[in-house]
Amino acid sequence: MRHLLTLRETSESDIRFLLDTATALKEILQRPVKKVPTLRGRAMVTCFYENSTRTRTSFEMAAKIMSAEAINIAVAQSSVAKGESLKDTVRTLQALQADCLVVRHPSSGAAHFIASQVRIPVVNAGDGRHEHPTQGLLDLFTIRQIKGELQGLEVAIVGDIAHSRVARSNIWGLTRMGARVRLVGPRTLLPADVDRLPVQVYTDLRSGLEGVDVVNVLRLQTERMEKGLLPSLREYSRLFGISVQSLRVARPDVLVLHPGPMNRGVEISDEVADGACGVRSAVEEQVTNGVAVRMAVLYLLMGGGGMSGQD
Ligand code: NCD
Repeated sequence: MRHLLTLRETSESDIRFLLDTATALKEILQRPVKKVPTLRGRAMVTCFYENSTRTRTSFEMAAKIMSAEAINIAVAQSSVAKGESLKDTVRTLQALQADCLVVRHPSSGAAHFIASQVRIPVVNAGDGRHEHPTQGLLDLFTIRQIKGELQGLEVAIVGDIAHSRVARSNIWGLTRMGARVRLVGPRTLLPADVDRLPVQVYTDLRSGLEGVDVVNVLRLQTERMEKGLLPSLREYSRLFGISVQSLRVARPDVLVLHPGPMNRGVEISDEVADGACGVRSAVEEQVTNGVAVRMAVLYLLMGGGGMSGQD
């Protein structure tokens, strides 16, 4: 594997290999001294053209735990603000001897473009509404760890699917691993190409949640949303908000995920977010698992081992 750009283009065996590698590396996070020399002398550069708390920080933690240098480009203070093109910026980072680029960008397809411009590995940390493969992998990892396996599970992705790169990476990753995926949300927030996706569609929350093993809750991504798609936040929350009450039709051991950031009281209630009232919420475990998954990705791209595909 030379890059990690999408889960759509990642084979089942590569996904399994990444998840198994992350399982092995997660043990390091539990040690009193969280440091191994595996990637000593390598440099990862993160370049985020959109906001981020957990994704950027967990890439940085992952690199540092494995003794790689982690350098962040503050895009707002960089030469991007002087009009430098994306191509020139990433070529400059390569010329500075970066060994790996981790990029987040508002345009769908930006990660593929960057990968075509440089010789070093590129990791897509979210490109527009297209994909966010490391989030997809950490969701698969979390579900697998708690449920034992992914094969045969019924997973509902609920909310603003149209603007969500997390939804797309989940759809491709989960179905490749043998889970069934339902998309649940108002018609205005379903993607235009929904008929071509390997999913079942529900525009009613109750039927969408009936009998599911896992619910992955998404934020309304207003920064990518045209006006007029929703009557009001209150209305959305009443019809599609995930609460203890709305989870009653799911399986009794239903697992709740959310990639963050959460808008409490809109798409998810406090009780569900915090795992109160008997709800099994994995929101914080997802964050921890994100470090292990990104360690696996960086290790496989910059250091040991290799994988097929995605040249
Ligand atoms: C997601 C993203 O940026 O796509 N966040 C994340 O990486 N954890 C989801 C979101 O912004 O709602």
